[in-house]
Amino acid sequence: MSQHKEVKLVTTHQMLAMKQRGEKISMLTAYDYSMAQILDGAGIDVLLVGDSASNVMAGHETTLPITLDQIIYHAQGVVRAVKRAFVVVDMPFGSYQGNSSEALRSAIRIMKESGGHGVKLEGGAEVKDSIIRILTAGIPVMGHLGLTPQSIYKFGTYTVRAKEEAEAQKLLEDARLLQEIGCFGLVLEKIPAALAKQVAEELTIPVIGIGAGRHVDGQVLVVHDMLGLTKEFKPRFLRRYAELHDIMTEAVQHYVADVKSREFPSEEEGY
Ligand code: KIV
Repeated sequence: MSQHKEVKLVTTHQMLAMKQRGEKISMLTAYDYSMAQILDGAGIDVLLVGDSASNVMAGHETTLPITLDQIIYHAQGVVRAVKRAFVVVDMPFGSYQGNSSEALRSAIRIMKESGGHGVKLEGGAEVKDSIIRILTAGIPVMGHLGLTPQSIYKFGTYTVRAKEEAEAQKLLEDARLLQEIGCFGLVLEKIPAALAKQVAEELTIPVIGIGAGRHVDGQVLVVHDMLGLTKEFKPRFLRRYAELHDIMTEAVQHYVADVKSREFPSEEEGY
């Protein structure tokens, strides 16, 4: 009989139990080995290899350009670093919409080639078939409703979603559907706090918010934003826990000055 290694990671079952006992779930994005090692070591519950890598790692204006190969590359580094956190990998735009066979193929590639623990994709009823197909392969799926950045050209802006009754109603129905078909969790992005509270109270699966208020089961932020690496991005929902842009600029300026003045390296720093 083969030996199975014990899973010591955060699991979907543990996340469910956290919701049930009222323990909030902490989630951050990560796109590389070094950062993931720090975040995992600091006790984060969930790491999201977000398609926001398209913005913060590659400098694109939107999340649309990132490819399956690129997200897998980012996820591989994150997975290598992780000892405890559950790693969710975003399915890139174009890798799952409108074709459930392709969605399944994309999700299998992500799981096989990156070693991630689950996938996340954007949308509700429109992507139902893709989600059901992915779930048949035993791959945990996380939903994402509200502001869904892969649809930015449909929305036209990054402002708060579901403020109007009709959109709020559709979001509620989509959230119920995602739970019903088997998603293990749901991200709600930039929607009114009262609506997010209603969803989190009604659903039994964990609901993680970004700009969705305090009455959800956990919070997610883009790590570059919460560490202050991105300087200009200052939405109301973002709390900066450090000012790394300033700290790094100062450190690099210091290094440049030391090299120019021959202060670095000293005799002791040579061989
Ligand atoms: O890609 C990402 O960073 C995300 C978060 C905003 C939830 O999907």
